[in-house]
Amino acid sequence: MDTTATGILPPRSSTLAGEVDALFNFVLIASIIFFLIVVVGMIIFVIRYRRREDRLVGTGPSHNRWLEILWALIPLVLVFIVFLWGFRVYMKMNIVPGNALEIKVTAQKWFWSFDYPGGATSLNDLVVPVDRPVKLVMSSTDVIHSFFVPNFRMKMDVLPNRYTVTWFQATHTGNYDLFCTEYCGTGHSEMIGKVKVVSQREYEEWLETSASEGEGMPLTDFGAQLYQSKACITCHSVDGRPQVGPSFKGRFGTQVQLQDGETTLADENYMRESILNPQAKIAAGYQPVMPTYQGLLKDREIDALIEYIKSLQEENDNP
Ligand code: CUA
Repeated sequence: MDTTATGILPPRSSTLAGEVDALFNFVLIASIIFFLIVVVGMIIFVIRYRRREDRLVGTGPSHNRWLEILWALIPLVLVFIVFLWGFRVYMKMNIVPGNALEIKVTAQKWFWSFDYPGGATSLNDLVVPVDRPVKLVMSSTDVIHSFFVPNFRMKMDVLPNRYTVTWFQATHTGNYDLFCTEYCGTGHSEMIGKVKVVSQREYEEWLETSASEGEGMPLTDFGAQLYQSKACITCHSVDGRPQVGPSFKGRFGTQVQLQDGETTLADENYMRESILNPQAKIAAGYQPVMPTYQGLLKDREIDALIEYIKSLQEENDNP
């Protein structure tokens, strides 16, 4: 992995990261140079021309035409360099190569979902092949989110009712952080994913195995895995702590107090309904913020999650 010249930015892992950093470093270094010129000059002048008995105010030259032209011209040239350079990089970031692999990105409170060519899907973990341009077609189902991968120097807002498009080409395999950088509500800071850059072969294998994920696995174990991979973990704890949503621990089989004053038994059907139609029965003390998982979970995955929740009973802690 490359390290950056200034050492303050994360390692570069996409084809455009180097160009973004070069411009960033140019602006940074130019700013430091002019900061020093101005501040050091100011200090020298303050000391040298401080008020003294023997010096009268108003003597000496009032202006210098060439000096004034020069200090207007230098910033003008610098601004032009930054503009033209920035525009060139901006255009590269916005023109998607024709052979790019296209992945649909959906943001919602508070997780990312990805749809791959051929029907594979994933939540929070974007899996892509290395050294291949990847086009992201992004939209949100609720509020504005923003897709940010620091190692790729790439950030794009994700909006409701409109598609935004961006692309990248990863240059190194590895796992990279994916952040939401638009404040989108209570779970914003938990809206964290990974970009997993793998070889072309591993990518193809992943596409195949993700279709048969969880087959032959006990439902409870599969559910524990889904609890993380399907982002339930963002809002539901398994240790009894209430978060954005109620904890899964000790929930199953209890009488749940609902917001409308009713109570309901937390059985399999209640769990299933809460996953597919979360607004139907809101538990008292919680906001109706959970998105529906309709279309995001297969029946066996719902079964597995319910089995997992069932396994999280209080007595499991004191065997
Ligand atoms: Cu999504 Cu912040």
